[in-house]
Amino acid sequence: MNTSSLVKTPAWQQLESHNDALKGTHLRALFDGDANRFQHFSLEAAGLFLDYSKNRIDRNSLRLLCELARERGVEMRRDAMFAGEKINSTEQRAVLHTALRAPRGARLILDAEEVGAQVHAVLDRIGQFVERVRSGEWQGYSGKTVTDVVNIGIGGSDLGPNMACQALRTFADPRMSVHFVSNVDGHDLDAVLSRLRPETTLFIIASKTFTTQETMMNAQSARAWFLAQGGNEAGLAKHFVAVSTNASAVSAFGIDTANMFPFWDWVGGRYSVWSAIGLPVALAVGFDAFQQFLAGAHAMDAHFLGAPLERNMPVILALIGLWNRDFLGCSSVSIAPYHQDLKHFPAYLQQLEMESNGKRVTRDGAPLGVATCPVIWGDVGTNGQHAYFQLLHQGTDLIPVDFIAALQPRHGLEGHHKALLANCFAQSQAFMRGKTEAEVRSELQAQGLSTERIDALVPHRVFPGNRPGNTILMQTLTPATLGALIALYEHKVFVQGVIWDVNSFDQWGVELGKVLAKNIHALLDGGADAAAGSSNALDSSTAGLIARARSAAT
Ligand code: F6P
Repeated sequence: MNTSSLVKTPAWQQLESHNDALKGTHLRALFDGDANRFQHFSLEAAGLFLDYSKNRIDRNSLRLLCELARERGVEMRRDAMFAGEKINSTEQRAVLHTALRAPRGARLILDAEEVGAQVHAVLDRIGQFVERVRSGEWQGYSGKTVTDVVNIGIGGSDLGPNMACQALRTFADPRMSVHFVSNVDGHDLDAVLSRLRPETTLFIIASKTFTTQETMMNAQSARAWFLAQGGNEAGLAKHFVAVSTNASAVSAFGIDTANMFPFWDWVGGRYSVWSAIGLPVALAVGFDAFQQFLAGAHAMDAHFLGAPLERNMPVILALIGLWNRDFLGCSSVSIAPYHQDLKHFPAYLQQLEMESNGKRVTRDGAPLGVATCPVIWGDVGTNGQHAYFQLLHQGTDLIPVDFIAALQPRHGLEGHHKALLANCFAQSQAFMRGKTEAEVRSELQAQGLSTERIDALVPHRVFPGNRPGNTILMQTLTPATLGALIALYEHKVFVQGVIWDVNSFDQWGVELGKVLAKNIHALLDGGADAAAGSSNALDSSTAGLIARARSAAT
């Protein structure tokens, strides 16, 4: 197999020499050399503002990175995605999450079907259902209204709606609580059920495939709990609805397909919050707000489609990420939302980025000669500052940070928001500037410390700085700005996938563990081990662990 042609492209080669030339220049010097650096390296789109000036780039870097994007066909592949071409080659599927947020009337034919009409027919059903539940017209088996919604799903059928419900909690109806159960660990479901009453609970069983072990097991247990706690078979229809692409499995589970909200195989799990998978969000915030969420994402789609690469926010975010990963060697990126309501955003991005671009071969199966998706992780500011920011400032790895903040809060508590923003801006400034030896010395001298003491302290108190970061701002966190933010990262991931030439829309890497878990489950249930020497024979570690679990269970 040939390795990827990426490193042989003219733009890549020029970027390598450019990197050598720029290496010795500190970010402080880049700021000192250009009074308008902030203006030159920032842009606005779809209600979001991106400041990417605190990255180790100059105008030449940006020019070459945009050239790379052109050479790799980003615009052509983007248009192919929006047009419904089957760009998910290993699964022979189109990738059309953008159609889920297109306004009514947008026309797109896929396999002789009018996609827009299908999307809006389901949206209309969601709108009606949400209205019935929120108004109290939809009642449980004892005539009571729904007070609790439990979404049972995992991965894309959990992370998106869970993150969005948290992000939009100040828009939610306080009379209804939405809970999320994802883990096959019974502690998850048990903790939620112990607080609920079946007669006022609505379960949403959310699974694209309707075969995912964790979701099916939790759904069965929820059903058993419902029946054991006073519910009856006839009442199931009022308390269980499904979101899936697999109508026959939904029926087989016992949910009437009249209570199923469908979506389609051209919606990837991690791109599905815009589909009926977003039902818990719509129930929490209402259908109008859900539509604003879709409209915010659509505004970002329009920007991504129309703006030149040099002024295209997802493209710029992608190129900066690629530069940091492949030229500066950053193997992880920390996401720091300075907004408590975005606390699930890093976990959401983990799936979006790492399941999409955590790949090691090209679309043609050739090994990639370059590093792909970095590890994505993080937590809300200011909490992270008091936990792991030490390593980000003075550790041995270079870890870029994406800061995300809203300029205005949705609470009225005096003073908090300015303190929050001050911390956010100060951290990105500290990462960029650092603190030089001369600065540390003069500070310690001013405190009257002896030369000996200063010499001992200096190495510990110097900050190298020169650490890259982006800052994304929005006016307020609303359904629309949240929609735009998610779409921004979706398209960022897409652009990086095109440049690396990986298939960002499959996830074969999750399969092996699922298959092995089935075998091990059978062994834990008392099944016989495979004969020594056979291809299924267990290694001593796995066999030893199983033996310990078996003996603990007896
Ligand atoms: O195992 C990974 C995965 O397939 C994800 O891609 C997906 O979001 C998740 O499982 C859940 O799948 P489903 O919605 O089919 O239950």
